[in-house]
Amino acid sequence: MENNKQFEQQLAAFLKDSQPNIVQKWLSIAKLSKEDPYYEEIIQNGKRTVELISHYILTEDESWIVTLTKKIATERIQANVNIGEFVANINSGRSVVISVLNESDFNRNDLSRALHIINNYFNSYLYHSVTEYTKLKDSIIQDKNLFIKEMHSDRLTILGQLGASFAHEFRNPLTSIKGFLKLLEDQPNEEALRKHYFEIINEEMNNLEEKVRQFLFLSKMRGIDDAPTKLNMSGLLEYSVQILYPRLLESNIEVSTDISSHLTVCGVDEQLKQVILNILINSIEELNEKNQEPRTIKVKGFVDDDSVVTHISNNGKPIPSHLVESIFEPFISTKELGTGLGLSVCKQIIEKHNGTISVRSDEDETTFVIKLPHSS
Ligand SMILES: Nc1ncnc2c1ncn2[C@@H]1O[C@H](COP(=O)(O)OP(=O)(O)OP(=O)(O)O)[C@@H](O)[C@H]1O
Ligand SMILES: [Mg+2]
Repeated sequence: MENNKQFEQQLAAFLKDSQPNIVQKWLSIAKLSKEDPYYEEIIQNGKRTVELISHYILTEDESWIVTLTKKIATERIQANVNIGEFVANINSGRSVVISVLNESDFNRNDLSRALHIINNYFNSYLYHSVTEYTKLKDSIIQDKNLFIKEMHSDRLTILGQLGASFAHEFRNPLTSIKGFLKLLEDQPNEEALRKHYFEIINEEMNNLEEKVRQFLFLSKMRGIDDAPTKLNMSGLLEYSVQILYPRLLESNIEVSTDISSHLTVCGVDEQLKQVILNILINSIEELNEKNQEPRTIKVKGFVDDDSVVTHISNNGKPIPSHLVESIFEPFISTKELGTGLGLSVCKQIIEKHNGTISVRSDEDETTFVIKLPHSS
């Protein structure tokens, strides 16, 4: 026993003295890059590894091996070194220590005991290094997977919303084109009327084309920067009513208009048209649910102080009070095929034009009120 202790102390002392030599030899054969961000630290780690052998010989304590290998594995991952290189360098360390021992004065018997201890040390060192390295790599892969998953679900949400608004914006011009085609079919001989209907169909086709362009633009995540121009709301209101003519006719809806002629605002024509159409179409859809006549829509346009005010009213069923608060929020819809985006888009557009949009609804009438700054 005493003999054992003496030998262990001798071996520990020998390795301590040989440390500079061992580290030197190891550095000359290890696969290391001068570009390694931890290059200086690697030399220190080499010294610590040899120092730790002496400690291990005297105590057989593995806890320090765990601590050191944890530190080194973290650095190797950060330096982006692959596990093959990492393991090869540890084994080079083992070879160097063994070759230095072989050149020592230890007798055969002591040498064999020394080799046994050194191999145990490096086996434990290797085991903890690889375990730690793999654990860290796994957690990095898990983080990456999570990131990919989250990104994927974000994309799906955006795609879903984009798809819903796509459907919404396409339905209006398509329904309108369908309506005018039907009218053309029914009135083949009235040349002037045919020409007028074709013009509207053409206009709506351009509208569709423009929407495709806008969506492609949006899908590339860029903003649409339509330049606002000076325009007359009265023309815009008249046009919107006109374009819905086939649907108004089909649903037997009377439209009365009271629109002043000078309603100048500064805005994006296409966007404001979309607001008026969304509100008019909601009104038509609401009146379609009403069994008794008359079904009426009133459109008013006038100037009040510094505002151009538009009222669009219908005499359908009132909006339930619990809905009035949230009606401009996206995805609020009472319709089977509704996207619930129509009014939220209206609100977005009007607010971008520095205006306001509101609704009031009672047993007699539902009225949407739009106020836009009057442009002189
Ligand atoms: N004029 C109206 N009269 C009564 N309720 C209305 C009127 N306009 C809108 N609403 C109510 O507000 C909800 C939201 O309207 P919005 O235009 O945002 O979506 P939607 O019409 O349901 O769907 P989409 O516009 O995609 O067809 C409607 O489902 C309806 O319940
Ligand atoms: Mg709608």
